[in-house]
Amino acid sequence: MSGGLLEAAWKARQHACCAYSGFAVGAALEATDGRVFTGCNIENATYGLTVCAERVAIWKALSEGVRAFRRIAVVTHAATVTPPCGPCRQILWEFCGDIPVIAENAQGDRKIWHMHQLLPEAFDRANLK
Ligand code: THU
Repeated sequence: MSGGLLEAAWKARQHACCAYSGFAVGAALEATDGRVFTGCNIENATYGLTVCAERVAIWKALSEGVRAFRRIAVVTHAATVTPPCGPCRQILWEFCGDIPVIAENAQGDRKIWHMHQLLPEAFDRANLK
């Protein structure tokens, strides 16, 4: 069921710009209309300007006017599956809400979390009232 989305994430990973960490990440974000937006991590010599694969996928979708999402896949070659970093969790919560995150590594290990598990007690627009 997640096969196509994972496949898209693996394909995106091939484009990772990870000269500094050597850690290539691929992501594939599925919109509720079925469209898939992919991303890879993009690093920079200043290090701090690095953008994660998840955020590249989200920025691509948002900049195309897409606002409703179903799930995201994240893939790496790490020994254990890779969960999204803290800043990506905040961005995923903001724009995607409580979607499932499907993570897979090259050994075929797979984990699925929902965003409320990865970012409990999240700060969001409800806290601005
Ligand atoms: N990275 C991602 O792209 N997504 C994650 O979920 C974890 C980390 C990237 C950032 C950096 O380019 C490299 O992986 C090592 O941290």
